[in-house]
Amino acid sequence: MKRYLFGNWKMNMSGADTDHFFDNLPSASRSDVTMAVFPPSIYLERAFRAVERSGSPVALGVQNVHSAHHGSYTGEISISMALDCGATYALVGHSERRHIFGESDEATAQKLEACSCEGLRPVLCVGETLKEREAGKTWVVVERQLNTGLAGSVNPDLLLVAYEPVWAIGTGCTASPGDAQEVCGAIRRWLRGRFPGKGIPILYGGSVKPDNASGLFAMADIDGGLVGGASMNPSSFAAMAQAR
Ligand code: PGA
Repeated sequence: MKRYLFGNWKMNMSGADTDHFFDNLPSASRSDVTMAVFPPSIYLERAFRAVERSGSPVALGVQNVHSAHHGSYTGEISISMALDCGATYALVGHSERRHIFGESDEATAQKLEACSCEGLRPVLCVGETLKEREAGKTWVVVERQLNTGLAGSVNPDLLLVAYEPVWAIGTGCTASPGDAQEVCGAIRRWLRGRFPGKGIPILYGGSVKPDNASGLFAMADIDGGLVGGASMNPSSFAAMAQAR
């Protein structure tokens, strides 16, 4: 089974840190792991050059895009710009975009459809807050985010989904493998209904670290991890890529 390890660097890692990461990434011995990191977009080209210099198998992604091709959208980047600078993937609807920057389900859907059309592989991020979990609404929320996020025309061959419970992101409170599997299993069933016959990868994210990665990645419906904090250290990243 193919495994994925994606690192979301958020608004961290300078240009020099980016070079250091690629210069010190232990060479990966597993060819069945697809690895990618998502640097701040201003360093995407620098990361691309570091990948080329080091011969690293790690692909690149962006943390956010705008759905329009171009125009008066101060501070935004387009999908074609991301592709032009070496990105293969884009996070879409990360919880920090939804909860800090107020990104709606509808905006997420537009970005997802645009990525799908233009050939940038979207990673749709879904997940409930602690309040929603405690109210027993985990699946109601995740299903709504799937329904709305994937309402448009989507190429299932490009799509990945990341289940990231908001209460587990950056808190050190990882979901137990069983709890994460329960939601990822439901996501798998939903995806099979929407895109029959397609093996869409499902990642878990939320305080994944080298010491808990194996337990999570052993679950039937978890195909890998989307990792924030622990992805910025090259040894930790390599260790999680090897986790079984
Ligand atoms: P974390 O972040 O691993 O630091 O919890 C995960 C994410 O936000 O994708």
